[in-house]
Amino acid sequence: MSDQLETLLSEKRRFPTTVEFAARSAATAALYTAGNDWQRFWEDQAKTLEWISPWTQVLDWKPPHAKWFVGGTLNASVNCLDRHLRGPRRNKAALVWEGEPGDRRVLTYWDLARKVGRCANALKRLGVRRGDRVAIYLPMIPEAAIAMLACARMGAVHSVVFGGFSADSLRDRINDAGAVALITADGGYRRGQVQPLKRMADAALADTPSIKHCLVVRRVGDEAGAQMAPGRDHWWHELLERETPACPAEAMDAEDLLFILYTSGTTGKPKGIVHTTGGYLTHVTSTSRHVFDLEDEDVFWCTADVGWVTGHSYVVYGPLANGATVFMYEGAPDWPERDRFWQLIETYGVTIFYTAPTAIRAFMKWGTELPERRDLSTLRLLGTVGEPINPEAWIWYHTHIGKGRCPIVDTWWQTETGGIMITPLPAVVVTKPGSATIPYPGITPELVDGKGEKLAAGGGFLTIAQPWPGMLRTIYGDDDRYREIYWSRFPGRYFTGDGAKLDEDGYWWILGRVDDVLNVAGHRIGTMEVESALVDHPAVAEAAVVGRAHDLKGQALAAFVTLKEGRQASPSLKDELKAHVTVKIGAIARPDDIFFSADLPKTRSGKIMRRLLKDIAEGRALGDTTTLADPAVVNRLKDMYESQEA
Ligand code: WTA
Repeated sequence: MSDQLETLLSEKRRFPTTVEFAARSAATAALYTAGNDWQRFWEDQAKTLEWISPWTQVLDWKPPHAKWFVGGTLNASVNCLDRHLRGPRRNKAALVWEGEPGDRRVLTYWDLARKVGRCANALKRLGVRRGDRVAIYLPMIPEAAIAMLACARMGAVHSVVFGGFSADSLRDRINDAGAVALITADGGYRRGQVQPLKRMADAALADTPSIKHCLVVRRVGDEAGAQMAPGRDHWWHELLERETPACPAEAMDAEDLLFILYTSGTTGKPKGIVHTTGGYLTHVTSTSRHVFDLEDEDVFWCTADVGWVTGHSYVVYGPLANGATVFMYEGAPDWPERDRFWQLIETYGVTIFYTAPTAIRAFMKWGTELPERRDLSTLRLLGTVGEPINPEAWIWYHTHIGKGRCPIVDTWWQTETGGIMITPLPAVVVTKPGSATIPYPGITPELVDGKGEKLAAGGGFLTIAQPWPGMLRTIYGDDDRYREIYWSRFPGRYFTGDGAKLDEDGYWWILGRVDDVLNVAGHRIGTMEVESALVDHPAVAEAAVVGRAHDLKGQALAAFVTLKEGRQASPSLKDELKAHVTVKIGAIARPDDIFFSADLPKTRSGKIMRRLLKDIAEGRALGDTTTLADPAVVNRLKDMYESQEA
């Protein structure tokens, strides 16, 4: 075992929950007992939803294809809205929102349901039919949730594209899904700047033959410079005004598609992860309720953008299905001041706060004074997601934000898993800083070596042994790739792409990706995607992208580039290449470093030796792995994974 792993596992601090927290939480140890009978457990969870007609079979498992709640029908928007209108939650705040400039909106469940109905009717009037795909490219404004729920209501499949993605990325996603309509906004605000979303969308729409209509939310006004194409483009407010708020909900089969969400993988092209209605909703409703201990009095803030899976599952579907009050914020944590998040928690009395380790590391750097000058006493539970959290950041979060009082749930999951998979139940599990702890009831992670043999403890690859309701059903339009990516490396098992360590108490320590997927500031980025964007530039002959350790972002992108004959390396070319990647993919994929090199190191079979490039990018002597913590551990696993040994 490496020194680094020993350091991680020598973490001896233990944090039991407080007596007060345990006394009032509905999620007790009995859930784990129930989870042992996993199909029964999930069936019981599904029963907490409102179904139009019941299922005849809990699970139909023909590996690698699962169908959950076979024959059952339901509607996700009815579960998130209508059923709360019949009781006291009718006038409860569903969405409490603040825009970056400080504008505010509160939508009760009643308000939200009416807007969703109008939007669903507007989509129908434009000719969108059940089963059609609708792309959504919006800032973090209430209309994002309204648009998603409206699709769910009338049976369309949404495909949300993060507003930070470029026009090219939007175009590719629209074309892959064959979307018939796009919902966007004239613009959004980010760090005081207007982001001209509609102008980006127009660039994408120049080459998306399937799109018939574009619905545009007026968020910014004239400053955004939006042009409306007659016949194709419609202002959201004009169209919705003309519709009635009552829209009958479609009865969807449990296995009908709810949404497609594109995520980065090991190949150049992002893949459309397919989620269906009944299983997904069961999984996110159950985990929202139990992991976050959601109660009617809570104000729940998950800081993720709806463009990512965390925003789908824990801003929209999970909390709303539980009738919770969701707080939503449009902007960045450091604008106009670095205490923006603490100010919002104080203003809105947020009780549960769920964010990414990369944000926590930035808060640490900005100092304790900022959270100290705000009243954070309403907080009672904290969560993290997206990447491994280092014990120092965990302790800082616990001490300075949770004031030693709030349990922390470190939740491991993926776009593909739909919902949380490994996490403590906050009232029950003693936490260890840096560990996502134990599986959620009904989830069966297993550690395997390179040959796929199950390991009882130690380091290896994280797989899931049994299907679970929120699991992806396929990759949109490419079932072969689905089989290949997730089910071929360890036959009979779902392979997560993550390396992990299982300790003697059965606690999981996630080490990070062992494939060519990087995790930059909690965002998944495929090395091949960035490489393709670089070689698309006329000066570039070949490119290799690796992740190097970064204090704040976890990983930073380092690109090694060989130029075509006659092209000269220069600082301005570096800037040009960075800008090129921003245009091709989006700012999140912009390389931090570019190294020009006459050649790239390769094996005899022509495979780029990324390990060596990583050593160079991290400033290590070649082959020396003693300096930094996690990269060395995960690199060793990565080597094992790639060489198919271990
Ligand atoms: C990583 C985000 C350690 C992991 C929900 C996974 C984590 C990838 C954790 C999925 C965590 C997510 N601890 N690593 N608590 N949560 N990851 O699809 O590498 O954007 O495979 O889903 O993030 O990223 P995705």
